[in-house]
Amino acid sequence: MERTLVLIKPDGVRRNLIGEIIRRYEMKGLRVIAIKSLYPSEELVMEHYKEHEGKDFYERLINFLTSGMVIAIVLEGKNAIKCARIINGATKYQDALPGTIRGDFAFDETENLVHASDSLESAEREMKIWFSEIY
Ligand code: CMP
Repeated sequence: MERTLVLIKPDGVRRNLIGEIIRRYEMKGLRVIAIKSLYPSEELVMEHYKEHEGKDFYERLINFLTSGMVIAIVLEGKNAIKCARIINGATKYQDALPGTIRGDFAFDETENLVHASDSLESAEREMKIWFSEIY
C-alpha cells in the first residue's frame, strides 16, 4: 500500500467540485485516510512549491493557492501516487484527456483544480507539510 498527498485547490472548492473530485479517487479504490479544509498560509504554500521558486508562474501560483480554501487529503491504495496523477490528468489543461479531472473541468494553467505528489519522496515530504500533526 502506498500513500499520496492530494490537494483540491481553491478553484475546485469555489466551483463546488469537492465531492466530484473525491468520488473519482474512491471509484479507483483509493481510500481517504486523512482529510481537512484550511486556508493555507503563504509560508506553507511556499514550502510545498519550493521547487518552483524563481519560475515565471511562481508568484501567481502562490497567490492562487492562498486565495481561498484548500482541501488536503492523504489517499492510500495500491500505486496511489501514480493512480492519483492519472486521475488528475496532465498539468496543462490543454493536454489533459477527457475522463481526467483536469481534462473534464480545467481551463487555466495555474488554476488546474488539483495537485498530487509526483514520487514517494514528494509524498513523504508533502504529507509532513500538510499533516504535520500526524506525520
Ligand atoms: P501542480 O501539479 O500543483 O504543480 C505545480 C503547479 O504550478 C501546477 O499544478 C499549476 O497549478 C502551476 N503551473 C505549472 N506550470 C505552469 C505554467 N506554465 N503556468 C502557470 N502555472 C503553472
